[in-house]
Amino acid sequence: PQANIGVVGMAVMGSNLARNLASREGNTVAIFNRSYEKTQTVLDEHPEAGFVPASTYEEFAASLQKPRAAIIMVQAGRGTDAVIDELVKVFEPGDIIVDGGNALFTDTIRREKAVRETGINFVGAGISGGEEGALNGPSIMPGGSDESWVTLGPILKSIAAVAEGEPCVTHVGHDGAGHFVKMIHNGIEYVDMQLIGEAYDLIRRGTGKSPAEIADIFAEWNTGELESYLIEITAEVLRQNDAETGTPLVDVILDAAGAKGTGAWTVQTALDLGIPVSGIAEAVFARSLSSKPAQRAGASSLPGPSTTVSVDDEAAFIEDVRRALYASKIIAYSQGFDAIVAGAEQYGWDIKKGDIAKIWRAGCIIRAQFLNRISDAYEEDSSLVALVLAPYFRDAVEGAQEAWRRVVVHAVQAGIPTPAFSSSLAYYDGIRADRLPAALIQGQRDFFGAHTYKRIDKDGTFHTLWSGDRSEISAVDAH
Ligand code: 6PG
Repeated sequence: PQANIGVVGMAVMGSNLARNLASREGNTVAIFNRSYEKTQTVLDEHPEAGFVPASTYEEFAASLQKPRAAIIMVQAGRGTDAVIDELVKVFEPGDIIVDGGNALFTDTIRREKAVRETGINFVGAGISGGEEGALNGPSIMPGGSDESWVTLGPILKSIAAVAEGEPCVTHVGHDGAGHFVKMIHNGIEYVDMQLIGEAYDLIRRGTGKSPAEIADIFAEWNTGELESYLIEITAEVLRQNDAETGTPLVDVILDAAGAKGTGAWTVQTALDLGIPVSGIAEAVFARSLSSKPAQRAGASSLPGPSTTVSVDDEAAFIEDVRRALYASKIIAYSQGFDAIVAGAEQYGWDIKKGDIAKIWRAGCIIRAQFLNRISDAYEEDSSLVALVLAPYFRDAVEGAQEAWRRVVVHAVQAGIPTPAFSSSLAYYDGIRADRLPAALIQGQRDFFGAHTYKRIDKDGTFHTLWSGDRSEISAVDAH
């Protein structure tokens, strides 16, 4: 056997990852695809890669050095299970099967458990960075056993993106931890994109600037604290003109956002964990709202504000939007990391938050300068109760909050929907509030369902006899 790593699935992501692996010193890559035709195409197009092709799973296994390691790069779902079944037949105890797709982490937990019974290691690895990242260096989030990491670690480090000299890969935690963290990455990706969309909309409708002019603003922002891949590509997209009509491309693209489901998974999971990822939820819902053309057409006659609000000082308004975007982004990450902490606790994973921030600095879609600040924050205080409380972020939000409020007020008065900006601000005001109306909710719950409440001034659980004399009793007495 000549190959030290194999890749199953020769669609774009798989072949790019295989080419990336082959381009690194010391790797020889075995490749397999369900139909050999595709394997042949990849071989023909990339003779430089020195791929070891296989036309059957037996041949594939025979071409791999032990312990064998193979990365599955097929459409997430049933296809993955089918490939795992085949690999389990030809692999041996100690070998490693990696799923590099966007699998739901609970599926990964299930698969890991089933495969482990055969003595084979199963690793769910989140891989971010799209086609380009797969080819030149993605951010990789592997879960799975410690044993598998011994073999996989050096291989994955060889292909990962590099941030300040460090490869963007770490052993995230056992079984589904890697796919869990990748899911949260995608949730943050959703809210980051939504916030940028809202910033663009506010500036366009508030100042009447053209997409190309707004592209310049984003390019400028990309030189400061907002520097990130998503801000960078936003400028690119806004600058693009449609070849056919000559108008800005953004004006001819149908305004109905697609989604493959990972954002929704993040929200569903966070609901189960009881973690408010309100920014991500708003981002997912904003995509859903955009994609209901009949409803939107029907509702387009509904009235908006009767008075028009105008922006007097454009430069000041744009700076306010920039600050509001930064503050909202801090909240989005704070919420995302809260979900990671809760997931780790629920599923028994030892996830190092600072390391996650580090491996997101390059290669992945949410890559940003800002992630250095997050890893610093967790390195300084790993028990931080909320990221936004770290000194750097606290200062940043303090400096931005007045602007943030002005922007949300403007949006509300002008009738511009900013669900992510607004909900992030509401979350911020919620966590910092001395008293919340949750006390009233507890009273209501006790009223209609004797659900009981606790008091601020003494221990115990209480119930008011609402339909009796309205005296309070200790809840052990309440039915
Ligand atoms: C990545 C991305 C990627 C995701 C796409 C599309 O990290 O490379 O998260 O995995 O599939 O961004 O996602 P949606 O179609 O749901 O927008």
